Amino acid sequence: MRIVSDISWLLSEHRYEVVRQIHEGGMGIVYEARQLGSRGFVKRVAIKVVRERYAQNAEFIENFVGEAKLVADLIHTNIVQTYHLGDSRGSYFIAMELIRGVNLEQFLQQLVKQQQTLPRELAVFVVSRVVRGLAYAHSKMDPDGNPLGIVHRDVNPKNIMIALEGDVKLTDFGVAKARGFLTDKEGEEVAGKPEYMSPEQADFQITDKRSDIFSAGVVLLQLLSGQNIFKGPTPEDSRQRVLACQLPELAPLCPDLPVKLEEIIRRTLARDPAARYQTADEFLYELEYFIYHKGYGPTNETLGKFIRELFKVEIAAQKADRHGKSGETMKLAGATTSRLPRTDEAPGRAGGTRVTPKKATKPGLFQQLKAKLK
Ligand SMILES: Nc1ncnc2c1ncn2[C@@H]1O[C@H](COP(=O)(O)OP(=O)(O)O)[C@@H](O)[C@H]1O
Ligand SMILES: [Mg+2]
Repeated sequence: MRIVSDISWLLSEHRYEVVRQIHEGGMGIVYEARQLGSRGFVKRVAIKVVRERYAQNAEFIENFVGEAKLVADLIHTNIVQTYHLGDSRGSYFIAMELIRGVNLEQFLQQLVKQQQTLPRELAVFVVSRVVRGLAYAHSKMDPDGNPLGIVHRDVNPKNIMIALEGDVKLTDFGVAKARGFLTDKEGEEVAGKPEYMSPEQADFQITDKRSDIFSAGVVLLQLLSGQNIFKGPTPEDSRQRVLACQLPELAPLCPDLPVKLEEIIRRTLARDPAARYQTADEFLYELEYFIYHKGYGPTNETLGKFIRELFKVEIAAQKADRHGKSGETMKLAGATTSRLPRTDEAPGRAGGTRVTPKKATKPGLFQQLKAKLK
């Protein structure tokens, strides 16, 4: 077994053996690891480690720690579960449930590669599971029964994972806002991918759970039409499109779109939060009614079959690889994709929570916005 050496402290101090890198983001790196217990007990987990260059950034660390504390008690089948927040020699890490699968962005890329389309009912099913996770997080209370006021604020395909068994899981509450936990920078800066933001988030206003409903609506329309209607050539263009929030005729984008589904999309993507579904529960009901009112509809199993078929070649290659090189961990195609240069990265969290991509030649969106606000 090849152990990733530069974070060997995880093993020496916390009994995690790092097996491979899954994803390298601007602010953190996600690894697959083995948690070692007594008498040969081994559990596969995922570990997110803060990048060295942020380890000294107090504000960033506050947010990272805030994320872990915020989601510690979120236990739901549609949310990636957090197991542990640890630190060693000034480096923080979060251990969490390992998802053997891909994120939704990788899933969409594979659809294009295989020239396939996602059946409409499966698309609605995927989003319904995300919304189910949101409904749970939004209504989460602390042990004294006070609402935690959790809002994810970064619902986008990269933060939605699909396991090979067909489970859909929301992850990365990194810019989530909840009372008393995260450094709340609202009003000064925005975070998240602009093309998935709600108009109020893109406009620096205070956001609530209805903002997540908008973002989930953007993902739904993307899954149905194959494109994000708000994505422009630059992050700032995307932000302007979100702010204008003009929905085109949907028929040319999604041929044969049932009237009910169009109604659902228009309601989630209403510019005014008061015109949207007011709770994720309401939105969930409509999505589930749409897929199940005829008596039978998609399930985790249906989605699982679809994704395994979609990644069949890659999974077979990985199995062969695993058997050929004893002990090596299975590498999903997605894992390879996630190591590609970060050209597709949207601007990130400012103020130490996300960074502007390295190659940017112009000041990033957030720098521009911050400058405007001064
Ligand atoms: N628990 C996990 N199991 C497997 N892969 C994961 C897990 N968490 C994250 N990943 C992978 O790492 C990527 C980045 O994770 P995320 O938590 O969103 O970090 P970032 O803060 O860099 O956006 C995800 O899109 C996914 O591909
Ligand atoms: Mg993420």
